[in-house]
Amino acid sequence: MGKNSSACSFEEKESDKSLSVAGRRIGSLVRQLAATSMEGQADRDGDLRFQPTAGSAVSAFQHLEQAPEDPILGVTVAYNKDPSPVKLNLGVGAYRTEEGKPLVLDVVRQAEELLIQDRSRYKEYIPIAGLVEFNKLSAKLILGDGSPAIGEKRVATAQCLSGTGSLRVGAEFLSKHYSQHIIYIPVPTWGNHPKIFNLGGLTVKTYRYYDPRTSGLDYEGMLEDLRAAPPGAIVLLHACAHNPTGVDPTQDQWEGIRQLIRLKGLLPFFDSAYQGFASGSLDADAYSVRLFVGDGGECLIAQSFAKNMGLYGERVGALSIVCRSATVATRVESQLKLVIRPMYSSPPIHGASIVATILSDRNLYYNWTVELKNMADRIISMRHQLYDALKARGTPGDWSHIIKQIGMFTFTGLNKDQVSFMTAEYHIYLTSDGRISMAGLSSKTVPHLADAIHAAVLRLG
Ligand code: LMR
Repeated sequence: MGKNSSACSFEEKESDKSLSVAGRRIGSLVRQLAATSMEGQADRDGDLRFQPTAGSAVSAFQHLEQAPEDPILGVTVAYNKDPSPVKLNLGVGAYRTEEGKPLVLDVVRQAEELLIQDRSRYKEYIPIAGLVEFNKLSAKLILGDGSPAIGEKRVATAQCLSGTGSLRVGAEFLSKHYSQHIIYIPVPTWGNHPKIFNLGGLTVKTYRYYDPRTSGLDYEGMLEDLRAAPPGAIVLLHACAHNPTGVDPTQDQWEGIRQLIRLKGLLPFFDSAYQGFASGSLDADAYSVRLFVGDGGECLIAQSFAKNMGLYGERVGALSIVCRSATVATRVESQLKLVIRPMYSSPPIHGASIVATILSDRNLYYNWTVELKNMADRIISMRHQLYDALKARGTPGDWSHIIKQIGMFTFTGLNKDQVSFMTAEYHIYLTSDGRISMAGLSSKTVPHLADAIHAAVLRLG
């Protein structure tokens, strides 16, 4: 007992000691704070005020300039601010119905119903490279049923954040693991391409693509530029429905491009954002990719389900890397995971589950092809209506490219001033390069657009 009591009093003494040390420290802190607070008081009428939680009164980001809006998505920002009842958004490539409304495909609604009813589904993290089933089905969609590359397990696929994410993951993979860091992109191309590849660690160069004199492909210019590319250079190719021009090579021209690319050992990187949208046929729109994969050579393919399944905001896409052998493909996939994990860890589950549900169900798949064809046909019909409307107005110039071009966009040839005029006077919003999203037009709005183009050409032609 006595031992215990003496032990107790020792502990008490020790804790008294530590309390007094702590107490002294707190006291000193309080005195310091009080002193600084007095200084703050003294400075009250001066420039600096005491701010106990801020390191500095000046923002660490003070030097930042206001960034410009995105050249494509910023068009929607401007459109949203316009109170005019006749305003028309033909900027971003997003499908609208004849009533001018966004469309959720019936098959997408049905797939979502099935997913919701399935109580065995969780919200767990999915693998770094995405849903296995989604990856298999996406590769099959672009490469075709019975593709030898798939059969030989030479394709490494990773689910990514739509087309942009797939391109970015592909760029970072190439900058880490490929001998050549130069990528050739067409002029013009989708405005995001150079930014994605630059930030992905590649050096961007360009090849001639569009000839404004013919409103068609500058095939010879393209071949000449690719012929002059350093060995092994990466070449970005739009698989179909070239954005923004709507100008695609013919099948013969694709073959010529393939031969040159293979001869020079260049590495093709396909951006496939519009499979099914260009012609209404999923197979026809995969022609270029399958031509290249068919020769046994390697390539990368970035796929997006934004347009062809209307899954814009779900951010669903895939990056496939077609390799020479199954062994290499396995290693490639393992390295893709090392690119993805520190970037966003793993992709989201919902959109990819919708795609996998549709692609794996015979009926849903069939219904999807019907809905896809309807969208493509409506866009093609808009081309004809706009062409006819301009002809009827006698608008100066040759407008036949409107019906010759393919996919979501018409590259009108209108210049920046004409575009500004159409926006200011007619409340029609389009990108400053004169690109029009045909998917945003309807029979009701064609006359308004034709009037605007007509006036712009007469006034500023
Ligand atoms: C477009 O070109 O309008 C689309 O691909 C949407 C986008 O993200 O730019």
